[in-house]
Amino acid sequence: MSVQRFFATRVYSARLAGAAPLNERLLRECRQLRLDDQAGRRWSAKNYRGGYTSYGSADRMHRLSPTFAQLERLLERHVAAFARSLQLDLTGRKLAMTDCWVNIMARGTAHGLHLHPLSTISGTYYVRIPAGSPGLKIEDPRLDRMMAAPPRRAGARRADRPWVELPAEAGAVVLFESWLRHEVPANPVAAERISISFNYGWF
Ligand code: NI
Repeated sequence: MSVQRFFATRVYSARLAGAAPLNERLLRECRQLRLDDQAGRRWSAKNYRGGYTSYGSADRMHRLSPTFAQLERLLERHVAAFARSLQLDLTGRKLAMTDCWVNIMARGTAHGLHLHPLSTISGTYYVRIPAGSPGLKIEDPRLDRMMAAPPRRAGARRADRPWVELPAEAGAVVLFESWLRHEVPANPVAAERISISFNYGWF
């Protein structure tokens, strides 16, 4: 007999080599952006309670800041490696960063389940991850078809669970296909959790 696996959902993670000095500058710029970005603070007050995101105001930071542009350059080979692992045929066109924005989560700030429409690969670079702050929770993309599926055993293998939380780590990047639904649970600690999210498009 055999049990085969098909339709794998892949998630890429890596530490960014050479990111430490860059990380310091990114941290400063993320905080400075919050001070300068009045429109973003207004948008966040409505859509990102307790936290700050430049998603609705400054969402092309790789075009605005040389520091973020440097992050984009460091990400390039990781995105290429992930695309190879996904066996994507990118003939004739390049995956290019289309959006790049800042997220600062204070205590109690959460980012509900969502996906990234109109993108191919999405991901997050972690700038500052205080001990006890949440990781990235991903959802089994087949969940909406599981009409009569029993729940999974408490000790089920990670690959067979309907949700998995991937721990976040400062200086690391996580990449996934943009259709993968994910969330960041509420930050339970007083220290701010700071990350930079981005999308890559191919179309
Ligand atoms: Ni997201």
